Amino acid sequence: MDTAPKVQIALGLAASAVLYLLVRNAYSGPNLDFIPTVGPSGSIWSYLGAFRYVFHAKEMFQEGYKRYPASMFRVAVIDRWSVLVSGKQLIEDVANAREQDLSFHQSTNEFLQTRYTLGRGIERDPYHPTVIRTSLSRNVGNRFPDVRDEIVCAFSELLPLQGEEWMAVPAYDTMLQVICRTSNRFFVGLPLCRNPDYLALNIGVAMDVVMKAQLINFLPAFLRPTLGPFISSLNNNMRRASKHLTPLVAERLKKMEESGGKDWPGRPNDLISWLVDSAEGDELSLTALVQRVIFVNFAAIRTSTDTIGHLLFDLAANPSYLQPLREEVEAIVNEEGWTKVSMGKMHKVDSFLRESQRLHGIGTQSLGRKVVKPDGFTFSDGTTLPNGTYVHATTWSLHHDPELYSNPDVFDGFRFANLRNAEEVGAAKHQAVTTSLDYLAFGHGIHACPGRHFAVIELKAILAHIVINYDVKLAKDEGRPPNQYIASACLPHASAKVLFRKRQS
Ligand code: HEM
Repeated sequence: MDTAPKVQIALGLAASAVLYLLVRNAYSGPNLDFIPTVGPSGSIWSYLGAFRYVFHAKEMFQEGYKRYPASMFRVAVIDRWSVLVSGKQLIEDVANAREQDLSFHQSTNEFLQTRYTLGRGIERDPYHPTVIRTSLSRNVGNRFPDVRDEIVCAFSELLPLQGEEWMAVPAYDTMLQVICRTSNRFFVGLPLCRNPDYLALNIGVAMDVVMKAQLINFLPAFLRPTLGPFISSLNNNMRRASKHLTPLVAERLKKMEESGGKDWPGRPNDLISWLVDSAEGDELSLTALVQRVIFVNFAAIRTSTDTIGHLLFDLAANPSYLQPLREEVEAIVNEEGWTKVSMGKMHKVDSFLRESQRLHGIGTQSLGRKVVKPDGFTFSDGTTLPNGTYVHATTWSLHHDPELYSNPDVFDGFRFANLRNAEEVGAAKHQAVTTSLDYLAFGHGIHACPGRHFAVIELKAILAHIVINYDVKLAKDEGRPPNQYIASACLPHASAKVLFRKRQS
C-alpha cells in the first residue's frame, strides 16, 4: 500500500474518534459549568485539556490548587469532567461522606470496569475490605515470621551476589517479584507463593486490568456488555487461577462441611480461611472465593510494588541514609529479633517510607468518589455537586504544600522521625500507617486503605532487610530515575536499574 491511502485511513480514524468523543461528551454527564476549569472549557476545547491531562495531570492539579485554594475546580478527562477539591475542610467532607452519598465503590467499579475485568461478585458484594481491616490486619503479627522468611528467600534467589561485585538489578521488576511472593506467602502460603505461573498470573492481573478497563471505558455503555468480555482477560485469568487455587479452596470447604463449622484443628491461618469466615451466600462458592483471592492480590501488588519501587530509588539516590538506617535496624533486631513489634520500633525506617510516599505517592489524586445522592451532594462551604459528578482530592499538591511541609520538594528521610521525637503527645500521627487531612497516600476516612497495616509492615521489613544486607547505589551518576506521570498515576521508573552488592562494612 502506498502512503496516501494510509494517511487517509489514519485521518479518517482520527476524525471518527474526535466525532465520537464530541457526540459522547455532548450527551453525557451533569452540568458543571459553575465550577472553575483548569485548562480550556467548552465541548470542543475541553479535549485539549483532556489530552494535556494524560501526561500533565500533576501540573493541572497544582495550577488549580494555587488558583482555587480551599475550594474546588474541574479538569477534563477524556470521557468526563473530574472535580478536584483542595483544602482540608472540603477533603474532610469527601473522606467522611457516606457511601450512599459519595460512592467509593461505584467510582472504583467504573474506573476498573470491575464486572468485566475482575468479576461481577467483586462488584456486587464488597465484603473484602472488612476482612482485610479485621482478620488480615490482626494476623500480621502471628504470620510475620513467614513474611520475613519469604523476603529473605526472595532476595537470595533474585540477587545471587558474589564477593564484592556490584550487580545491576532492574529495580521495578525485582520488587514486583519480591512483593508478589511475600504478599502471597501471607495470603496463601507455601508452596503456591513461589509457583512461577501463579506469580505471573497475579503480576499480569496487577499490570493489565487498569489498561483493559480504560479501553472498555472508552466504549459507549451499550457496547460494553458485548465487547467488554472480549477485551478483558477475566475468563482466561480465572481458568489459570482455578488451576492453582481450586484444590486449596475446595479442601477448606470440604473440611468445613465435615467439621460442621468454619473452624477445625489445624485450619491454615491465611486469606482463604479469613474469606471463608466472612463470605455468605454465592460468595461462599469455589469460583467466588478464587476470584476474591485474585482481587485482593490485585489491590495489594501494584500499589505495594509502586511504593517500594519509589522507595528503592530514594534509597539509592540518597546513600547517606544507609548507615543510620542500618544502625537503627541492627540495634532493634539484636535486642528483639524480627517481629511485628520490632518493626513498630523502627522509627527511622518508618519515616523513610512515609517521606517517600509523601514526595512520590503513587497517586497525584486520591479519595476518588462519585456523587450518587439523587439531589446532589452539598459540601460544608454550601457548594452542591450534582448526582453523577466524579470527585477527587488534590493529593500531590497537598503533599508538596510549603504551609504543611517545610522544604516540601526536598527528600528528608527522617522528617517524620524528627517530628515524632519532638512531640511527646500525639507522635503517632507521624507514623507511616496514619492517615490525615495532610497525608493522603492511603486515602483517609471511611474508605482509607484497609491493607495499609500489612503493607507498611511488609515494606518496612523489606527496607530493613535491604539496608542490613546490601550496599545500594544508582547505576549512573544521573540522580534519581525520573517518575513517570501518566494521567493521575505517579509511577516509579519502569526500567531503571539499581546497583546492589553484599554489604562491605
Ligand atoms: C503501599 C501500598 C498501598 C497503597 C499506597 C494503597 C493505597 C490505597 C488508597 C489510596 C486507597 C483508597 C482510599 C480512599 O479512597 O480513601 C486504597 C483502598 C484500598 N486498598 Fe490499599 N493501598 C496499598 C496496599 C494495599 C494492600 C496490601 C491491600 C490488601 C491487602 C489493599 C487493599 C485495599 C482495599 C480493599 C481498598 C478499598 C477499601 C474500601 O473499599 O473501603 N491495599 N488503598
